[in-house]
Amino acid sequence: MILKTVDDLRAVARGWRAAGEKIGVVPTMGALHEGHLSLARRARQECDRVITTIFVNPKQFNNPDDLKKYPRTLEADAELLATVPVDAIFAPPVDEVYPDGFITTVTMQGVATPLEGHMRPGHFDGVATVVTKLFGMTMADRGYFGQKDWQQLQVVLRLVRDLNIPVTVVGCETIRESDGLAMSSRNVRLTAEGRQKAPVLYAAISRAAEDIRNGHADRMAIREAAETMREAGFERVEYIELRDAETLMPSDDPRRPRRMLAAAWLDGVRLIDNIPV
Ligand code: PAJ
Repeated sequence: MILKTVDDLRAVARGWRAAGEKIGVVPTMGALHEGHLSLARRARQECDRVITTIFVNPKQFNNPDDLKKYPRTLEADAELLATVPVDAIFAPPVDEVYPDGFITTVTMQGVATPLEGHMRPGHFDGVATVVTKLFGMTMADRGYFGQKDWQQLQVVLRLVRDLNIPVTVVGCETIRESDGLAMSSRNVRLTAEGRQKAPVLYAAISRAAEDIRNGHADRMAIREAAETMREAGFERVEYIELRDAETLMPSDDPRRPRRMLAAAWLDGVRLIDNIPV
């Protein structure tokens, strides 16, 4: 069942809720791969009803070219979701989500400001706004998000706490290709040559994390990882940072969980990844 309007979605969701069924939502921007499907399968296990939303949210793109080039593959997505299966796909047009006169933005500081927030101004406000709307539209009990976008996951966890949104946010493990590259809808934009080099991102941060666990200096391990990536052919390493896993602020408190996060450009494609340290 592919739904295009909020009214249709609401009618369906209301029926489910009235029957006492638990609704899980998996928000996506489409171009689905095993990473997305793993969230949908987890939702399938834990909820009576599963809704996958497919919406390329213009408000979270700070680069118009990235928005234009973002892959759109609704038919193939629907076929993949049928294998899970999910109960409904919500794939609204842009003016259904942002009709004329739309003026509200959910703005966040703190965890939303460093790293991705710094490199992509407005990005997390766009994410927070659309996720708030999708939670409201779907009337979901549980929302499923990938650790692949670790900072986004922390932003959404904070969002539901701050705004008392009655949704349990579930963070799911990053699904990787067999060579370690984190699955991403943007991977298809890599050239064959770029695709060969891309796993170096994960390999380099994994090595740095291991070195740090073995007592090497944080800065040194990170510098080596950046060097490895540049040597492999990455055009630009935007950041490799060791941060508090929850606040994403700099942290050298070894008692708190830490996370290494990285963003880098390869073949004109921006890749991100993160791992626990
Ligand atoms: P999108 O990039 O399509 O990702 C949808 C969900 O799939 C996110 O929660 C993301 O973390 C998860 N995901 C992506 N790749 C993954 C992988 N390799 N392993 C596990 N999970 C993975 O993230 C967004 O869309 C948008 O910002 C959205 C939350 C839908 C708001 O517009």
